Amino acid sequence: MSLKELLKDRLSDEEIKLVRRSFEIIGDVVVIEIPDEIMHCKDDIVEAILKRHKHVKTVLRKIGEVNGVYRVAKYEIVYGGKTETVVKEHGCRFIVDPTKAYYSVKLSGERERIAKLVREGERVLVMFAGVGPYPILIARLAKPREVIGIELNPNAVEYFKQNVKLNKVQDIVKVIEGDVNDVVPRLSGKFDRILMPAPYSAENFIHLLKGKVDKGSYVHYYTFESENEEEKLPEKIASKFAEHEINVEVLKLRKCGNFAPYVNRYAVDLEVVG
Ligand SMILES: C[S@@+](CC[C@H](N)C(=O)[O-])C[C@H]1O[C@@H](n2cnc3c(N)ncnc32)[C@H](O)[C@@H]1O
Repeated sequence: MSLKELLKDRLSDEEIKLVRRSFEIIGDVVVIEIPDEIMHCKDDIVEAILKRHKHVKTVLRKIGEVNGVYRVAKYEIVYGGKTETVVKEHGCRFIVDPTKAYYSVKLSGERERIAKLVREGERVLVMFAGVGPYPILIARLAKPREVIGIELNPNAVEYFKQNVKLNKVQDIVKVIEGDVNDVVPRLSGKFDRILMPAPYSAENFIHLLKGKVDKGSYVHYYTFESENEEEKLPEKIASKFAEHEINVEVLKLRKCGNFAPYVNRYAVDLEVVG
């Protein structure tokens, strides 16, 4: 039963129209948008959520969009108090706090897809690693030689380090705190695979890959694009890489989420061909 249906005896038709259809469940924390006009109904909304999801301890109302380089939204607590929680993802556990660092449940399928592509012995670089879901899943679901994760937000880095220990992948995953612009040029050697789940578009970071990839390396590039530009995207990305003298072949383009109406997040798998 949807949240709207659960609330239909308690709220007026006008109020029901303003209830958001979906909310995100992150461990035992729920994130929901409640418009100002129906804030007087917040206790009913919380009660309806708790009735359906009995394990929930905290309900956060999103009061601003995900923003800034750290990609963290603003929230107010409408029920409970504790914002830190543990999420399970494909056999791994991650300590997260949506009020302090980026983490999205919605991308867990994409993370599993990438982890399953990694072959034995690969050296992998994850730029923009957040609290560590990509590097840790790769270390647990595949058999890489080394996975390096770089993250700028100190709160995310703290959780990333805790999550590495929690999932017992200290021997494989190396956490580096810093800006990819400073850190990547200082890394020695090449990578078999580089992930670029950038805060906005990965476009501004392509130059960092120069000298870090070889023929046969893979790049997972994330970007936002309007739906009607989708067809042109592979060519556009290949030419952006070519500007930095990296020749790539687009292996796959995958829609993985909405950003705004008619604007999607795309995951683009690339192979370096020269
Ligand atoms: C969209 S989030 C992705 C997080 C993570 N990969 C995930 O899937 O949960 C982007 C992350 O990049 C970090 N970030 C932004 N600019 C950065 C930079 N210049 N260098 C390193 N990390 C950065 C943000 O703090 C944020 O955690």
